[in-house]
Amino acid sequence: MNYFCAAPMEFGRLLLTGFMVLCVLGVGGKELQGSAPCVFPAIYNFGDSNSDTGGISAAFEPIPAPYGDAFFHKPAGRDSDGRVLIDFIAEHLKLPYLSAYLNSLGTNYQHGANFATGGSTIRRQNETIFEYGISPFSLDIQIVQFLQFKARTYALYNQAKTPSERSKLPRPQDFSKALYTFDIGQNDLSVGFRKMNFDQLRAAMPDIVNQLATAVQRIYQQGGRTFWIHNTGPIGCLPVNFFYNHNPAPGYLDQHGCIKGQNDMAVELNKQLKDRVIKLRAELPEAAITYVDLYAAKYGLISNAKNEGFTDPLKVCCGYHVNYDHVWCGTKALVNGSAVFGASCANPSQYVSWDGVHYSQAASQWFANHILNGSLSDPPIPITRACQKH
Ligand SMILES: *[C@@H]1O[C@H](CO)[C@@H](O)[C@H](O)[C@H]1NC(C)=O
Ligand SMILES: *[C@@H]1O[C@H](CO)[C@@H](O)[C@H](O)[C@H]1NC(C)=O
Ligand SMILES: *[C@@H]1O[C@H](CO)[C@@H](O)[C@H](O)[C@H]1NC(C)=O
Repeated sequence: MNYFCAAPMEFGRLLLTGFMVLCVLGVGGKELQGSAPCVFPAIYNFGDSNSDTGGISAAFEPIPAPYGDAFFHKPAGRDSDGRVLIDFIAEHLKLPYLSAYLNSLGTNYQHGANFATGGSTIRRQNETIFEYGISPFSLDIQIVQFLQFKARTYALYNQAKTPSERSKLPRPQDFSKALYTFDIGQNDLSVGFRKMNFDQLRAAMPDIVNQLATAVQRIYQQGGRTFWIHNTGPIGCLPVNFFYNHNPAPGYLDQHGCIKGQNDMAVELNKQLKDRVIKLRAELPEAAITYVDLYAAKYGLISNAKNEGFTDPLKVCCGYHVNYDHVWCGTKALVNGSAVFGASCANPSQYVSWDGVHYSQAASQWFANHILNGSLSDPPIPITRACQKH
């Protein structure tokens, strides 16, 4: 049983009797303010390639080597040389890496599930994955999958006759104590940049953040109480932006070589997201919702890469990208009539960008080190206390 009694001083002028009542309520499992760390029995994650741990590989084609080499020593369904940020979150909370919900083999959902897939957007898009890699599993679909997952695991858990039958399923009572994490929105921007001008994209932002809020509300209705929401990163700093644009116009880039207009859009989306999260706290009185400025962590590393022990953050570790010839990481193509493999660099841990779009394991570890202690969060509390309302 995970409960605690808050110290009387934290309740200011509450009388001792009042304190004792609160203490007894605590036994019933309600969260109270206090200093004990949370115990999260599970993580349920929703997102895109920044946190996919095997979804798109299971549903479509597997992500090939050398993805995964640096840690798993084989492809592991992740768009990185190794672990992605959600893996570091799981490690930090002493939970196993999350199995992808869509993966049918070798999975264990006792401590949560991952609904993220590479290419996912918050809003539904009407294009197939075969055009620009946009996943059919937009956030609303990920939520429907979660609802199905929860309903089916309840039924299966209660039907199970032996402990071993239950051992790969979450305990029904754990859904209300789980940590619900979100890392999605980057592809809503990338689709926006492709199909809209900046004014149109700005006009779409209230709908984008509302749809993320709706996802949180739907989980809250199902009993979820602790939410950890990453904002979107500095998309204008992704090296892919420069694969096809070698001579950007003056004023197009900021002092670190990132596309200023794109980053401004990300900052605007994040501002609206933060405002929407503040409203959500009022709408969902029993929820503890943490807004995490992952943008600041990512931009912080990119703007100071050298001092942090990394090479030029706009350089790419994996893939062949020379002039206008592009062989993506893990693929083969003909360049000047000869076969070229998009191989890894020798020292991926010195790179911020793994493949031009996705971060290296080393960068993700750096981001984890800078967000998990709460210094970039609103409210500014570490992830181990994210269940506590402030
Ligand atoms: C879907 O595509 C059609 C035609 O290609 C377009 O008119 C429509 O606006 C699109 N809808 C969305 C939500 O993008
Ligand atoms: C292809 O040709 C260009 C121009 O001659 C050369 O710079 C480049 O190195 C060649 N690439 C490969 C893979 O041979
Ligand atoms: C959080 O961790 C980062 C990286 O180690 C550090 O720079 C920062 O001072 C820490 N903040 C707090 C509040 O502990």
